[in-house]
Amino acid sequence: MARIEAEIAAALPALTRAVFSQPTAEAAAQKLTVRPLLLKGERVWQVEKLTDNKAFHQNLKDGALLALVREEAEGAFRQVLIQTGTESRQYVLKRDGSYKKTGASAAVPRPGGAEAHDRAKEYLLREGEEIPALVDLGVFTKDYRIVRARYDKYRQINRFVELVDQTMRKENAEQIRILDFGCGKSYLTFILYWYFAVLRGMETTIIGYDLKRDVVERCNEIAARYGYGGLRFEVADVTRDTLTDTPIDMVVTLHACDTATDHALAYAVRRRVKHIFSVPCCQHEINNSIRKGGELDLLLEHGIIRERVSALLTDAVRAAVLESEGYETDMIEFVDFEHSPKNLMIRAEYTGRRRRAGREKAEALRARYGFEQSLLDLIPVS
Ligand SMILES: C[S@@+](CC[C@H](N)C(=O)[O-])C[C@H]1O[C@@H](n2cnc3c(N)ncnc32)[C@H](O)[C@@H]1O
Repeated sequence: MARIEAEIAAALPALTRAVFSQPTAEAAAQKLTVRPLLLKGERVWQVEKLTDNKAFHQNLKDGALLALVREEAEGAFRQVLIQTGTESRQYVLKRDGSYKKTGASAAVPRPGGAEAHDRAKEYLLREGEEIPALVDLGVFTKDYRIVRARYDKYRQINRFVELVDQTMRKENAEQIRILDFGCGKSYLTFILYWYFAVLRGMETTIIGYDLKRDVVERCNEIAARYGYGGLRFEVADVTRDTLTDTPIDMVVTLHACDTATDHALAYAVRRRVKHIFSVPCCQHEINNSIRKGGELDLLLEHGIIRERVSALLTDAVRAAVLESEGYETDMIEFVDFEHSPKNLMIRAEYTGRRRRAGREKAEALRARYGFEQSLLDLIPVS
């Protein structure tokens, strides 16, 4: 016979997860989940309460966690799972209000403990991680396995979040405000939110923009259902609509179509948004407008070569504009080509140091080959 508070107390500090499920009529929530979290270098316990299918989060120190277990969980849930780095134990509630241990097994080796939470790679969106929103989005199955058809997307998103996370950790940021241009079904958007707001406990605001009303409405419903108060989606054509003018730390795009990427970059440049993570897609503009004009004509002879060269030239021009506007810019092959041919990421950080040589070369090429490129027009030479 056991009291769950004592079992949890004994499991600290090696606790990696506790789940209270199958609520009795006494329970004030459908489910409670406890995970370790590092906040500003201090280990806390993040408690997720699922109520009316909405998730609420609070971060507690040891004493407050045990008080919550005593007052809100003891005797109120029929089933309890306690996992540490080495063991996984299940308990069931008995009629007299105590708990009986019904099973124990060696834990599947997985990174656990708050220390592991400080190393991005180990806790980025693991299979088996309970993220119900991802089940709704169709990325995870009901038992939190990755839907095979979504595997490439999953890989891209993991890498994307990892790169963003590296940057935010360098800055010791405690809050993050992101705009996602062309968010679509919003796998990236939800995962960024979950990662920063839920897992890392940062103050997180994300707005996802997309043209498609039905997709935006569905994403808003899912965000509301899980109590993701800092996440919202808006119907917008980013090439012409007026977007938010609240302070933003980061613009992200993942395969936003064609010139939507240019408008995202222009938005960032005009507002001096500090960080840009942009993975372009279908760069048609130069391919459709470039004409022969000099030494590079050989590259324009064959359609397939012209298309690829145009896509690369588009991104080279974009990088040159960003550099001329004071952004330190690099190009990353962010996932292997076999997982996505659209695998170049433009990563840029505003430093204020302007390097204009690339832009001059881009303008000279444009004059010579007569192509159109939106970012050159959106951000005139200054
Ligand atoms: C290929 S999807 C990528 C979606 C998402 N970022 C992802 O990686 O899963 C491109 C999205 O950009 C949206 N889009 C294209 N042009 C847009 C525009 N001008 N304004 C807003 N959204 C746009 C499309 O509706 C579509 O959902």
